[in-house]
Amino acid sequence: MNADPEVREHLGDLLTREQSDASVARFQAEFDQRGYGWWAVEVQATGEFIGFAGLDQVDDGMPFTGVEIGWRLARSAWGRGYATEAARAGLAFGFETLELPEILAVTTAANLRSRAVMRRIGMTRDPADDFDDPTVPEGPLRRNVLYRIARGVRV
Ligand SMILES: CC(C)(COP(=O)(O)OP(=O)(O)OC[C@H]1O[C@@H](n2cnc3c(N)ncnc32)[C@H](O)[C@@H]1OP(=O)(O)O)[C@@H](O)C(=O)NCCC(=O)NCCS
Repeated sequence: MNADPEVREHLGDLLTREQSDASVARFQAEFDQRGYGWWAVEVQATGEFIGFAGLDQVDDGMPFTGVEIGWRLARSAWGRGYATEAARAGLAFGFETLELPEILAVTTAANLRSRAVMRRIGMTRDPADDFDDPTVPEGPLRRNVLYRIARGVRV
């Protein structure tokens, strides 16, 4: 998944096996520290691993702070509603268990599939929140959009 150019189109460079494994180790450490993070996503009927989704602290240096929701699925799992289902579970955990007042989501302006998930789960975008990611070099991945949803807004 992390070495698939289609999955990585809006994310940046392809990951090596070592980089991908290191990110999983980081996810597990973050889970242990704070009790939430990136969950593995599996197809309920078969147990097949298809990607991950979950909640993360917004990185330092962004023009906003808070907790963001995100998702990444293997190409073969797109188009089935799995990301939306996982995202709704993430929102429920964030609002009901963590009692967050608001959850954010960020993606490149061109990542229409990810933006569609944001809209499906009831998130909204104010164009005034669009921003250039300071950690990304000049290019198509630099312009980002920010979506928000407040606790109590459920669709
Ligand atoms: C972003 C990403 C997770 C979206 O996946 P997705 O499968 O398009 O999203 P959903 O789970 O919401 O599925 C929606 C599609 O499934 C269809 N679908 C089928 N059954 C469905 C159901 N029961 N419920 C909802 N949608 C369903 C929808 O009609 C829609 O189809 P469409 O794409 O033809 O319009 C996926 O493209 C991805 O992993 N991209 C690479 C990583 C990435 O960019 N991550 C985001 C970084 S910010």
